[in-house]
Order: sequence, then C-alpha cells, then structure tokens
Amino acid sequence: MATTKKRIYLSPPDVGQRERAYLLAALDSGWIAPVGPDLNAFEADIVKRTKTRHAVALSTGTAAIHLALRACGIQPGDRVYCSTFTFAGSVNPVIYEKGIPVLIDCDRHSWNLDPTLLAEALANDARNGTLPKAVVLTHLYGQSADLTPIVSACTQYAIPLIEDSAEALGATYHSQSVGTFGLCGIFSFNGNKIITTSSGGMLVCNDSVIAERIRKWSTQSRENCIHYEHTELGFNYRLSNLLAAIGRAQLESLDEKIAICKAHYQAYAEAFKDIPSITMMPICKYGEPNYWLSCITLAPTSGNNPTSIVKTLESENIESRPLWKPMHLQPFYRNAPTVGGDVSADLFNRGLCLPSGTNMTHDERDRVIEIVRKCLLPK
Ligand SMILES: Cc1ncc(COP(=O)(O)O)c(C=O)c1O
Repeated sequence: MATTKKRIYLSPPDVGQRERAYLLAALDSGWIAPVGPDLNAFEADIVKRTKTRHAVALSTGTAAIHLALRACGIQPGDRVYCSTFTFAGSVNPVIYEKGIPVLIDCDRHSWNLDPTLLAEALANDARNGTLPKAVVLTHLYGQSADLTPIVSACTQYAIPLIEDSAEALGATYHSQSVGTFGLCGIFSFNGNKIITTSSGGMLVCNDSVIAERIRKWSTQSRENCIHYEHTELGFNYRLSNLLAAIGRAQLESLDEKIAICKAHYQAYAEAFKDIPSITMMPICKYGEPNYWLSCITLAPTSGNNPTSIVKTLESENIESRPLWKPMHLQPFYRNAPTVGGDVSADLFNRGLCLPSGTNMTHDERDRVIEIVRKCLLPK
C-alpha cells in the first residue's frame, strides 16, 4: 500500500518571508531585467562573504565555469584537467569549447581531487610537453579539496586553477573561503544548493581585468555605445535582478543553514555509530565544510547497495540519491582520458546522499534514520 506520509526531499529550496519581501521590493522597483541594484548588491555581498575582490552574477554555475574556461583561453583540442567525481555541469563546459577533459580521480580521505595524482600527471606532462590549459577542481558535497598541494602543483607549471565551488558556498580551507585560491571560483544557486536563487551562479576572482571581461561576455559582449556594437563573441549569461534579490535574502541566512546541515550530519553520525556497515563521509581537519549533503558509504559486506536503500526510502516517500556517478563512467565521457578512477568508482558503488534540507524537521530526520537503520542493522 502506498504511504500517505509527507514527502521528504533530498535538498529542497528553503525560502520564506525574507525572500518574499526582497523579491517583491525588487519587482516594485521596476528593475526586473538582468541589470539593477539587487544584482550589484548581491555581487557586493558575495565579495564580502568570500573576501575576494570581484564577483560576477551569472545565470548558472555551469555558465560561470564556461566563462572561466574562456578566460583561460581554451582552444579546440586543449586538454583540461577535471575532477571525475563531480556533476556533469563541471566538465561539460570544456566540451562547449571543444577542449579535451582529462578526468582525475579523488582520494579516499576528502573524496576530492587527489593532489598526488595531479602532481604526477603534471610532472609527466611537463616532461612530454603536453601540459593542460587549465584545471577545474570540484569541492564536493560542500567540503574543500586539499588546496595547498593542488595550488602548489598548478603554480609550479603555471596552470590556471578554476575552483568549482558550486556545492560549497560557506566552506573554508584553513579559514579562507573556497573559490578564492585559484584564478576564478564559481558558486551555484540552483534549487538544490545550500542557498538558491531558483537558478543562478556567481564567478569570483581577484583580477579586475578578468572580472570585467567575463561581465562583458555575459551580456552578449555589448560594447559601451549608443547602438549595439560587438567586437567579440558574447553570451546571454547574466543573472536577473529579481533572482539576485532572492539571493541577497538567502545569503543572510547562510550561516544558519550551514548550522542546520551540520546538525543533520551529526545526528546521522550519532544514529549510525553502532552500525559498523555505515561510514559517514569523512570530514577533513584542514577546513570547515558547509555540510550541504550528508553522505554515507556502506560496507561491501552489508548485503545492501545504495540503490536498494534509495528504493526502500522511496517506498516511504523519502528522496535520497546515490553519490555522483563519476564522469569517467558516464557513457558520454567513455573516451575521455582518465587518471586513476577506482576510488570514485568504489564510492559510487557504495555511497548515497541522505535528506539534508535546511527545512527538514527533527521528526522527518528521525523517519529517515529509522528506515536506514532497519535496512542495515545486522540481521
Ligand atoms: C559540482 C557542481 N558543478 C557544477 C554545477 C552546475 O551548477 P548549475 O546547476 O548552477 O549550472 C553543479 C550543480 O548543479 C554542481 O553540483
């Protein structure tokens, strides 16, 4: 019999009176196009929050990665190193520019790009004269990658680093915001992210020339003329002023939302600590994550796999998901060169994301815990 219990979503948007007030004020102001005071203020708020110099509000995180790659001057046939354990939006922009993504595995203790594999691959390239044009690094599930050795390897070979921080707004590495260590960083405000503008993105960087070029490209590269004049290719990638107003309201509650996500993670960890076949996603000491999604892995001996748990939860009207399927296992990327790949493949086979919404109640979380425990308690 189908359950009548209220649906629990994985990570739904959490908006309230503040978003309503900011959005209606923006609407009433008449600034409803992708230009206006909320757009400027949202960029300034992100600059302040991440302690970077410049921010450009864009229509999606994917668009932000695309323009960051163009800022690196990617040409057809250029190789770009990418995290394989990520979402497709991180790697697809390399294909938009006809580049060749080279997919690099993660390590087990951070689930993020393995710095040793990166350093070895770059050293090898330097010997063979095949260095990549850029590195796109994902900070997965709200936790920073181990940036010191990654930045140092990129610096050694003068390779620009783009930090895909789509999932990680608010996360830090040694107290510094993710997204601010490389040439450019990007954030996503898609509906499932820790803060949302329904759809939206932001590019941050410390270089004013790059920031201005990207801002111009995002508005169809329109020149500063009375008529429409274009001297280079442009894109329609600017964020709407209305969505920026929602973003400003959301950003005001970012710390509150991080605290709630952290409490979810800790409650799951406490509830599963007597079940040896469940391991929580590791938390690295070098930084503070935003705990966007609480993820677990299952011991191979548990007799369960992520799909069976996802289906059991679904039968109780609860949404969960296997971990990201690595890009090197995606049919579309089957021919992409790959460095390593076994670690992310293993995590994908054994891992899942549990409901982590900032509006999930304690009772709802207890429903999730009860079902997962029932599936995995030793029989
Ligand atoms: C790691 C990662 N990169 C890129 C993106 C793309 O962001 P957007 O959906 O805003 O284009 C997302 C999320 O959707 C993501 O999770």
